[in-house]
Amino acid sequence: MSARNVTVIGLQWGDEGKGKIVDALAARAKYVVRYCGGANAGHTVTVGGERYALHLIPCGILHAGVHNVVGNGLAFDPATALDEIDALRERGVAVDERNLHVSAAANVVMPWHKAADRLSETALGDGKIGTTARGIGPCYADKATRSTAVRVADLLDADALAGKVARIVETKNKVFAALYGANPLDGGAIAAEYADYGRRLAPMVANTGAMLRAAIAAGEPICFEGGQGSLLDIDHGTFPFVTSSSVTACGVPAGAGVPPAAVGRVVGVLKAYTTRVGAGPFPAEQDNEIGDRIRDRGKEYGTTTGRPRRCGWFDAVAARYTADLSGADELALVLLDVLSGFETVRVCTSHRVGGRAVDGFDPAGGSFAAAEAVYEDLPGWGEEITEARRFEDLPEGAQGYVDRIETLLGRPVGIVSVGPGREQTIRHHTSIGERQP
Ligand code: IMP
Repeated sequence: MSARNVTVIGLQWGDEGKGKIVDALAARAKYVVRYCGGANAGHTVTVGGERYALHLIPCGILHAGVHNVVGNGLAFDPATALDEIDALRERGVAVDERNLHVSAAANVVMPWHKAADRLSETALGDGKIGTTARGIGPCYADKATRSTAVRVADLLDADALAGKVARIVETKNKVFAALYGANPLDGGAIAAEYADYGRRLAPMVANTGAMLRAAIAAGEPICFEGGQGSLLDIDHGTFPFVTSSSVTACGVPAGAGVPPAAVGRVVGVLKAYTTRVGAGPFPAEQDNEIGDRIRDRGKEYGTTTGRPRRCGWFDAVAARYTADLSGADELALVLLDVLSGFETVRVCTSHRVGGRAVDGFDPAGGSFAAAEAVYEDLPGWGEEITEARRFEDLPEGAQGYVDRIETLLGRPVGIVSVGPGREQTIRHHTSIGERQP
């Protein structure tokens, strides 16, 4: 039943360029579905020279006739979503209940979540996680607590919302005052603001799980759009320097309300190098002129926060782990053009702790924080490759690099991306057709 579905996930620490790949696959999908994370994500799509930075709205919004779904698994910030909808409309993109559906069961990011995120990070000082300050962790914490959670459905009943917000704010204010000496939040004002968001969003609020299961029964193709990257997964990532949701393909069924078989073909997106924002171990990091060069050429600054990203060589050990975890059927290797001009390119092929090689990749193992990268050197290529449209157009060094990644990760590189534009895409060993009848 899922032969036509596809799940696009990041296999590194986020910012892999999933937006461009989802955009390409959205052309053949009837539904594009976000299932994890929230406005901490930043997906950039460039269409006809126009750059769109999306945080909460699925990338399929840029395609006519595609249903875009914000699944139950999201930490949904209505203020950000409405800003994004307004900005899209201003640029001539139609957004309404015909093409955007928000799960009634998604949890809402409330002002106290953003406050808690900021206050907690400040209090942690050097030990901070380096979050995006979007309130994601505190929102999911309240989801797990249940009695202090607000869901999208709650925004639709202004009276009930006022009561709920008053009760929650009373507790939060006590906690914030005791822990951080913070000023109290105004529950009445918050309830009124969020009831207004509810009024504006109401036509788009839906039982999205039922909608997707009906689509599956009808054989309509779905593209699940991952947020963040697998190494930031709450269970399987480099804990505690992770985000707070299940971002791998394993998170799709729970976060969208579909059976596991609906995941379909899994496309794992990887940069040709590695980046990370926020704190935490990063064995292949190049905190030197190599990293600076990658950051400059790759414009490696956060879409959501503008923070400079930490940059390093491709870590095949970490990528093999995440590809195996989600059962990636094929890979999309993006930003290959950024590596042009290096005489030698390095790939991390194993990790070492205290001079001894470690087997595989175990982020939960105590030694991971001390892991050092062991590299294999490959010949680089001097030429710019942004004009290449076929694999054969790539210089020998670039072809060899892609071949080596296929071998190290044990799966085909379906797509190679050599620039942000839709046309700067090389179809290589992909088995996903651009369009299906
Ligand atoms: P949070 O998701 O805001 O709680 O942040 C937790 C960690 O995940 C931090 O290291 C963030 O920088 C990182 N993070 C969250 N979302 C993204 C993303 O979309 N791309 C890259 N890093 C992210």
